[in-house]
Amino acid sequence: MAVTTEERTVAVPATVPKSVTILGSTGSVGCQTIDLLQRNASEYRVVALTANSNVELLSEQARLLRPQFVAIGDRSCYGALKAKLSDTGIEVAAGPAAIEEAASLNAEWVMAAIVGAAGLAPTLRAVQRGAVVALANKECLVCAGDLFMREVARCNSTLLPVDSEHNAIYQVFDFESVEAIEKLILTASGGPFRDWQHEDMRSVTPSQAVAHPNWDMGAKISVDSATMMNKGLEVIEAHHIFGMSDSRIDVLVHPQSVIHSMVSYVDGSVLAQLGTPDMRTPIAYTLAWPARIETPSERLDLGAIATLQFEPPDETRFPALRLAREALRTGGSAATVLNAANEVAVAAFLAERIGFLEIAAIVEETMGRVNFDQLSSIDDVFHLDTAARNVASVETEKRAS
Ligand SMILES: NC(=O)c1ccc[n+]([C@@H]2O[C@H](COP(=O)([O-])OP(=O)(O)OC[C@H]3O[C@@H](n4cnc5c(N)ncnc54)[C@H](OP(=O)(O)O)[C@@H]3O)[C@@H](O)[C@H]2O)c1
Repeated sequence: MAVTTEERTVAVPATVPKSVTILGSTGSVGCQTIDLLQRNASEYRVVALTANSNVELLSEQARLLRPQFVAIGDRSCYGALKAKLSDTGIEVAAGPAAIEEAASLNAEWVMAAIVGAAGLAPTLRAVQRGAVVALANKECLVCAGDLFMREVARCNSTLLPVDSEHNAIYQVFDFESVEAIEKLILTASGGPFRDWQHEDMRSVTPSQAVAHPNWDMGAKISVDSATMMNKGLEVIEAHHIFGMSDSRIDVLVHPQSVIHSMVSYVDGSVLAQLGTPDMRTPIAYTLAWPARIETPSERLDLGAIATLQFEPPDETRFPALRLAREALRTGGSAATVLNAANEVAVAAFLAERIGFLEIAAIVEETMGRVNFDQLSSIDDVFHLDTAARNVASVETEKRAS
């Protein structure tokens, strides 16, 4: 039958826009995700956005992207956010339960970019309804790894790693032949104090610690990179995502951050993913997965870079990496305690209450004082997280100036 002109001119979208939610939309990863959404506006429909207290930016983002729901963690910000969005018809809510509600709404893809263990409950909500979860919030896996991965499997959720190292490994990891994989090699920039003597780090200020040589990130992860706790957290994250034991996850310092990580196979082949240090590349990989979309990331010019350097990590100058490995080997709740103590200590350092070297000292002290248990439920994780924070806070007070 012939097609009429009327039928031919009916506009049918090539694809239905993918529905997306961003948990932590006002942060570094959140804003870079929004940058990609804006560049591909017809491909995506935003369901919900969340922040903790940044009313100004969250309301701007909501006006731009017109989600159906926005949530702000800090209840005292509700009135200001509601007033800013009063003429938009966007539903506004506040408090931790509202963040979980945002995660529960029916978006196909959820960016988990809240910083710290505060992201665990909402990210689990997205997992439990079987969403595709782009996981930036590594602390979820550090504090609740086995339980979290069990929920991912039980609920048929798809977990796509956003961390550039894990995203790199994901791209070259042969999930069909896991037995042919010998080890994972996580690269690390080494942070701003890579070649500093241990004693010289004693007087480091927060502004020095957050000035990462290659990546522009939120304050907490920047401090974690400076202490190398970030790499320790990533070893634990890699263990849970790829099912490799601690002894099969190497760390290699690579100051240029060009090789984002590698997978080594039994035949001697080593597969790597490379790129310039721009989080929009791994975020785009998860956003378009299993397809790919264009990003504005600067293209890699190896000829101009000319030299790539590598060196082993120094766990004496950077004890946080050793502590994280010990927590992984200990198992049970040790990593939950490590993560909680680190969050308390980093916050105290950023508030200029303790020195830089005291971050790892407080984590070690806390790990020595809290009993490690098996974690049989997520409630166990929350209880232990609170107990470890209390111990770490006491340790912090002892050292605070
Ligand atoms: N930045 C990177 O390049 C990068 C790379 C790899 C992995 N990651 C991981 O991604 C996560 C986010 O990092 P980021 O650098 O984007 O952090 P960030 O810039 O500090 O942003 C954190 C986001 O979480 C929100 N938030 C903070 N505390 C919250 C709470 N208690 N309840 C609800 N929301 C809360 C913040 O809201 P407000 O703005 O209102 O405070 C903000 O939207 C971290 O786990 C980090 O390790 C980041």
